[in-house]
Amino acid sequence: MENILDKAYSAEDFRRQGHALIDILADYLADATTDREEVKAMPWQDPDKQLAYWQQDFQKPLQQPLDLFRDVMAKSIQVHRKRYIGHQTTPTLPVTILASAVTATLNQGMGVYEMGPVGNTLEKVMTEHLAQKLGYSSEASGFVTSGGSLGNLTALLAARAAATDIWNAGYAQGQRLAVLVSEEAHYCIDRAARIMGLGADGIIKVPVNEQFQLRTDLLEEYYQQAVAEGKQVICVVGCAGTTSTGSYDDLEAIAAFSESHQLWFHVDGAHGAPAAFSPKYRHLLKGIEKADSVVVDYHKMMMTPSLSTALIFKRGGDAYKTFSQRAQYLWTEQESEEWYNGGKRSFECTKAMSVLSVYTMFRTYGEDVFRENIERLYGMATSFAGLIKERPGFELAYEPACNIVCFRYKAEGDVSKLNQEIRRLLLEEGRFYIVQTILNGELYLRVSLMNPLTTENELQELLEQIVEKAALVRAVEA
Ligand SMILES: Cc1ncc(COP(=O)(O)O)c(C=O)c1O
Repeated sequence: MENILDKAYSAEDFRRQGHALIDILADYLADATTDREEVKAMPWQDPDKQLAYWQQDFQKPLQQPLDLFRDVMAKSIQVHRKRYIGHQTTPTLPVTILASAVTATLNQGMGVYEMGPVGNTLEKVMTEHLAQKLGYSSEASGFVTSGGSLGNLTALLAARAAATDIWNAGYAQGQRLAVLVSEEAHYCIDRAARIMGLGADGIIKVPVNEQFQLRTDLLEEYYQQAVAEGKQVICVVGCAGTTSTGSYDDLEAIAAFSESHQLWFHVDGAHGAPAAFSPKYRHLLKGIEKADSVVVDYHKMMMTPSLSTALIFKRGGDAYKTFSQRAQYLWTEQESEEWYNGGKRSFECTKAMSVLSVYTMFRTYGEDVFRENIERLYGMATSFAGLIKERPGFELAYEPACNIVCFRYKAEGDVSKLNQEIRRLLLEEGRFYIVQTILNGELYLRVSLMNPLTTENELQELLEQIVEKAALVRAVEA
C-alpha cells in the first residue's frame, strides 16, 4: 500500500506547490485594484446553496490543493478589493501573508517559553512598544491573545480578580457583580460579563450622546443606582472606537470617575486604539494611559491576519493574577512572574505565533506604515462624509471620528426598509460590500473604510449605485 504520509510531507511537492500558490495569491492582490466590471468584492451565494456545493465537493475524488484554493478564493469575500468597505476585517498587508506561512510552518505552541522562544519574546517586545505608544510607563506590559472578544473577557476577569476572590472561592450567596459600559459597546463585553456569571442585570448599559459616546455625566447616577440595588461594580469599560459608529468615549472623564470610586478601568480599543500611531488622531485617545487594561486588535487597523490581539495592563504584574492555577506539566509555580511562559497569563494553552506578522511589518516598513494607514483611512472617512452631505437625498448619521461612517438614503415612506433593500441589492450584485446597523432604532448603511487603496472614485460610485438601487426598490413597490 502506498505510504501517504511520506508523500504528504514531501518538501519537493511543497516547494512546487508553494511557488505556484504565490503566483495565484499575487494575481489576486494585483487584481484587487482593477476596475474590471466582473471583479466583485462579494461573490454572494445563498448559504444553503453554498452548503450543498461544499457537501458535494467533499464527496468528489481527491484533487490538487491549488485547485481547491482557487475555488475557495473565488467563493470568498474579497477583502483586498477597493470596493470592500464593509466590516472591520483588514486587507492584510502582503508581507504578513508571508509571515503567516512562517507561523504555520513553525507551529510554535507558545504556552511555555520552550514551545515559543521567539514568539513569547516578540509578544513582550510588541505589547510593550504599543504600551509606550499609548502613553504608559515602563511598568506596563501585555501579551497577544486570540481576538478582541477573548481579550475583553480576559481583561474583565482581571478586573474581577482585582476586586474579589471569586476565581478561587466562587460566588458567595447573593453576591452580585456589575460592570458599567456604553450601550454602544461591542456585544462581546455583554457576552463576557454573562460568561463570568454577572447575568443580564450585571451589565449596566449607560446611554450615549448624539455622537454615540458614553454619557459620562450619567456615570455617577448609574453607579449609585447599582450600589443601591446591592451590586458591587467592579469595572467601567470605555470604548476607543465603538463598533457601529467608531465613536471614541471621553476616556479622561471615565478615568477620573473610575479613580474616584476605585474601579478597574478597561478600554476596548480593539478598533480605534491604533490612532496612537498618528500625531493627527492621537488626541482621540486622551486618558487611555490611565486605563488599567486595554485591548487592541492588530487584526483590525494594523493590517494583520486574524486573530491577533494585544492585551495591555498598566501594571504588567496584574496579568498574572487572572488565571491563578497550577499546571504541573508546564510550570510549577503560577505566582512567579515569568513573562516568557505565555500560558500563565493567557486563556489559551496552545496559540498561534500571530505576533510575527505585526513584528514583521515594523521591521520591514517601520512605524510609519501604521501612521499612514490610520491617516489615510480616517481622512477618507471625513471626505466620504463630505460627499454624503453634498448629495441630495442622503443623510449622514453623525460626524465620523474614525473610518466608520453611517448614513442612509432618505425618501418618503419606510426609510429603514428602503435602506435594507438597497443593501440587499448591493450584496447580491456583489460589486460593493457594505453593511448596515441600527442607530436610535432606525436602520442605517454602514461602511468601514479598511482598504487604503480605496479612492474617492469608488465612494462616488457607491453613492450613485445607492441612488440607482433606491429607484429599483421604489419601482418594485409602485
Ligand atoms: C470595538 C470592538 N471590540 C471587540 C470586538 C471583537 O473583536 P474580535 O472580533 O477580534 O473578537 C470588535 C469586533 O468588531 C469590536 O469592533
